[in-house]
Amino acid sequence: MKEEKRTVICGTGHYLPPQIVTNFDLEKIINTSDEWIRQRTGIVQRHYGTPGVGSSDLATEAAKLAIKDAGIDKSEIDFIIAATLSPDYYFPGIGVLVGSKLGLNGIGALDVRNQCSGFIYALSVADQYIRNGTYQKILLVAAEVQSSNLDHSDEGRDMAVLFGDGAGAVILEANSENDGRGILTTKLFSDGQYACELWMEKPSPKDKPTFSPGLLEEKKYYPRMNGRNVFKHAIEKMPQAVWASLKEVSLTVNDIDHLIPHQANDRISLMVAQKLNIPVNKVIRNIHRVGNTTAASIPIALDEAVKEKRIKTGDLVALTAFGSGFTWAAALLRW
Ligand code: UT7
Repeated sequence: MKEEKRTVICGTGHYLPPQIVTNFDLEKIINTSDEWIRQRTGIVQRHYGTPGVGSSDLATEAAKLAIKDAGIDKSEIDFIIAATLSPDYYFPGIGVLVGSKLGLNGIGALDVRNQCSGFIYALSVADQYIRNGTYQKILLVAAEVQSSNLDHSDEGRDMAVLFGDGAGAVILEANSENDGRGILTTKLFSDGQYACELWMEKPSPKDKPTFSPGLLEEKKYYPRMNGRNVFKHAIEKMPQAVWASLKEVSLTVNDIDHLIPHQANDRISLMVAQKLNIPVNKVIRNIHRVGNTTAASIPIALDEAVKEKRIKTGDLVALTAFGSGFTWAAALLRW
């Protein structure tokens, strides 16, 4: 096992916009039912932001809470990493906006675009920077506003019922104690041959002009998914990523105290746990309350579990995610 300086998460926070949208609310605008959504996904409700609220706003609120939780002054943060698939603008990314909203102008801000795997990809980047001493305190935010671009027709109802808005944030620093706490490993994977299986195809700069009157008629600006294929790959790849991470640091599944899977679908989370032979009581699940919040889902679930004191000092926490790209990933943290 690597015994060099490790990166610890010294503060966590999350923010959900106040509006709660239940399955019954969706029944009124989508050809769906509470029963179908619960049975197929485990979701009961999700949160939607109001018009004018962007992922940078949600990220900023989560960041403030993480900074407070870490007990640091925001001026100590020397780098920002932001993960989202729903930035406020085509460009620039939300990292610079979060920095500006926090009054942290001047420091570097990096945007990570790895969708549902975005938090673990960003965590991996932050881990390298902290361990090699480039930065001392990194703010990692993951945020999504997906409610503004969902297709409520029958063509898009599979996705429209899944997604919610929200943000999670962590503060990362080097572990100054020699107590083994911190990120043990991160493992990242991708396979771009499946890019079209879960994507938002348009608008695309490949089209000249990018924005034409036909764009609205095509409806290709809505996210689309081959749900069954995504499901099939998700339940294979997430366990594989966890096994790879365990192997890297010579630990076993029995050493895991908590599994935090990306909250894509509760059936997926339970099947991943089953394949890994991890008992259900070790699996952190909040999808029934927040829906699928893409990059934000793991840090939201992590913050909730820490604040509930479910995760305790010394526990081994496994994170795993799968999503658009396809990308998938895992991380092991000694809390
Ligand atoms: O977070 C990123 C990664 N995303 C995922 O991991 C999601 C992976 N996929 C899934 O979670 C599931 O595929 C879904 C929840 C999206 C769909 O569940 P499913 O069990 O795979 O359903 P299906 O797509 O095979 O559709 C079954 C039926 C279809 O009707 P027919 O053809 O059997 O008559 C659909 O038209 O369910 C219908 N359906 C719905 N019915 C009511 C699809 N969406 C809905 C809906 N309400 N919202």
